[in-house]
Amino acid sequence: MKVVTIVGARPQFIKAAAVSRAFNNLNSKKSLAEVIIHTGQHYDHNMSEVFFKELGIPQPDYNLHVGSGSHAQQTADMLKGIEEVLRKEQPDWVLVYGDTNSTIAGALAASKMHIPIAHVEAGLRSYNRRMPEEINRVLTDHVSTLLFCPTKTAVTNLEREGITEGVKNVGDVMYDCMQYYRARLETSSVLPFGVQRKGFALATVHRAENTDSPQSLRQIFDSFKEISKQIPVLVALHPRTRKFIENYNIDISDSIKILEPLPYLQMIELEHNAKVILTDSGGVQKEALFVETPCITLREETEWVETVEIGANVLCGANKSRILDAYYRVIDGDFKVDWSSNIYGDGKASDKIVELLVGDHSS
Ligand code: UD1
Ligand code: UDP
Repeated sequence: MKVVTIVGARPQFIKAAAVSRAFNNLNSKKSLAEVIIHTGQHYDHNMSEVFFKELGIPQPDYNLHVGSGSHAQQTADMLKGIEEVLRKEQPDWVLVYGDTNSTIAGALAASKMHIPIAHVEAGLRSYNRRMPEEINRVLTDHVSTLLFCPTKTAVTNLEREGITEGVKNVGDVMYDCMQYYRARLETSSVLPFGVQRKGFALATVHRAENTDSPQSLRQIFDSFKEISKQIPVLVALHPRTRKFIENYNIDISDSIKILEPLPYLQMIELEHNAKVILTDSGGVQKEALFVETPCITLREETEWVETVEIGANVLCGANKSRILDAYYRVIDGDFKVDWSSNIYGDGKASDKIVELLVGDHSS
């Protein structure tokens, strides 16, 4: 049996690392071939290669090198390249992850060639159709044969759209990844960048709605500036955001520490040790919960609604006063969270995904 895995952006490398590991574990018992296509959506060393090395992901069999561009241009280049590879490889399944342009390109190319699609992280919804990711998710789910949901909410979201066949609630593959590396998080006394355990804030920003608006980006960095008067603020800066900060001439206070994008293990070590996380990332919101660090989300809505429901995450948009209010609630110990909630599965989502793929094929 042959599976073509399609990845292209940072969070997909992390998710695919967990599933590739499960493929390898099963491979000793069954004849399984995983062929990896990297679309080239992310291409800087610290946005791509570093994760393959660090997480032991097999090197991609194909790299389409599409690079950056408008949505249409980028997706179209991916579509052409993926179709060519699928024609050559003739896989039994195409496996796509999440909600990026690489996801929708893989799903579209495969569906037109009548190759069944399995979607990891199916059923997530922000119900904000202005987000490119929401379009990518909805369309991918509607052409998928197997829909691997991380949560019950995701299953319900699909039901509302009339999708019930092939829907499997397996848990979250990013939780698998965290569990795999958790032992390494055990506190080293010396943290990078001179920070102290529970004495700093960690931030990431890259969502289009924040970077593409000078006003939003200013409010966010102004709030970081205020926080940095009290504790160090480390910002692991996405290249997209770096570009917009330069374009808008946003003044970054000297007290904010701007970092290059970090390798995964350093990132989760910092998440684990931070006093608070400020982010608009999907994956980082969940990881904050996994490592029991309060999260302030720089968005008005989230797909990971459970994190908000249990009190581990608060939605503040790009609004300085709401961000600072939430920060002071964290500092005042006012974040009441049931950290023990087991929302994202049992750490075996990847094994279940691989077993279901193999099982489905043989039935
Ligand atoms: C993409 C995904 C987003 C995901 C994010 C993860 C889409 C529509 N968006 O957003 O859902 O959360 O990845 O990080 O697929 N750039 C570089 N080097 C790189 C990659 C990007 O400099 O290696 C810069 C380029 O200027 C590029 C910009 O970042 O134009 C945006 O990159 P792109 O892949 O289009 O979208 P992301 O914002 O990364
Ligand atoms: N991440 C990382 N280094 C960074 C920022 C994020 O390794 O500098 C990891 C993070 O731990 C998580 C994933 O990248 O596992 C989230 O990806 P991202 O925020 O780019 O995308 P999203 O999840 O929002 O789609």
